[in-house]
Amino acid sequence: MSSIALPIVSLDLFRAKSQDSPAVVAECKKAAEALIAYGALLVEDSRVSEDDNNNFLDLMEDYFAQPEAALKKDERPQLSYQVGVTLENTEKPKCAVDEPCLQVIARLDPAERPLDITGHQPDPKCRFFWKMGEVPPYETKFPSLNAPNVVPEDEDIRTRWVPTLEKWGNSMKTAVKGVAEMTAMGLGLPGGTFLDASRYGPHLLAPTASDLKKYGGKDTILAGFHTDLNFLTIHGRSRYPGLNIWARNTGKRIPVKFPPIGRYLLVQAGKQLEHISGGLIKAGYHEVVVNESTLEAIERRKETHPDRPLIRISSTFFYHLSSDYDLAPIALLAERARVLRGESIYPDYVIEQTDYPAIKVGQQVQNELRHIALMA
Ligand SMILES: [Fe+2]
Repeated sequence: MSSIALPIVSLDLFRAKSQDSPAVVAECKKAAEALIAYGALLVEDSRVSEDDNNNFLDLMEDYFAQPEAALKKDERPQLSYQVGVTLENTEKPKCAVDEPCLQVIARLDPAERPLDITGHQPDPKCRFFWKMGEVPPYETKFPSLNAPNVVPEDEDIRTRWVPTLEKWGNSMKTAVKGVAEMTAMGLGLPGGTFLDASRYGPHLLAPTASDLKKYGGKDTILAGFHTDLNFLTIHGRSRYPGLNIWARNTGKRIPVKFPPIGRYLLVQAGKQLEHISGGLIKAGYHEVVVNESTLEAIERRKETHPDRPLIRISSTFFYHLSSDYDLAPIALLAERARVLRGESIYPDYVIEQTDYPAIKVGQQVQNELRHIALMA
């Protein structure tokens, strides 16, 4: 098992000093370099509250522990599941049907490969999408990506729902926006570059749930090897380990570990950031599996909380560019990407793409959703 530590960037430092102070400039550069080299980073933000995360995880465990009939009421297949619940075994790991992605796996050292996804089985995970975007003041070409939220019916869950999701969702949203700003500055762009492009993005608080009573066996794939289709993904601490990421600069599997104390969140680059940067930053591959550490956490949880549902919740927030934004590489970044490709300093397991054609963000999202079987 690998012991590579992810770079840590501090939002506290970023906020404490003026934007042109050498410490802030250096921290922004660190964020940008981390995303270029690793596709991921840990962000420290003292505004993030562990209690808010715990309240959120408790509520999600209660929600997903409901009978299937109750959950079914919150499904919106006609909206491509972009609001409400997605039940288990609906979403396919894109990579299982994607030739370039299978090549990525083949190019990894066998000892560093993800668990085998070639069985084409959909992921055994449920998910809830809670939209946290600002409604565009103009007529969007992509209304289904901008549909209203679903609130569950159950009395107890319903009363806690909006405040708990909004509180925790806003902590993650604020942090990921900070990282987007730092990254732009670290790349030599105006700080508002990515924030402006994502102003009306259909951002999603997107907890996923895996029933560990059913899917708690060693080496069960909870989410197969893939990259995310959005701009940046941010995760809070889960109660059960199992998230592995692959950094571009090593090609090694990295089990994500949060520092034991402090307010940390994990940020990973998605496809929209890869596209807008012309491949300078690559979307990060990851998987969620049941490994030894997951099993240990399950045993501990059974002892300490015997009455609680045994469900692994991942506390995830997807930050998106605006659906109507014209996605195309920023020239300065595309040029750096070209130079970087020429240097060939990274292991070649990531397939280098040179062409990122202009496309509306909403169209890019719909193309990706079709691929993972969420959209007809
Ligand atoms: Fe993901």
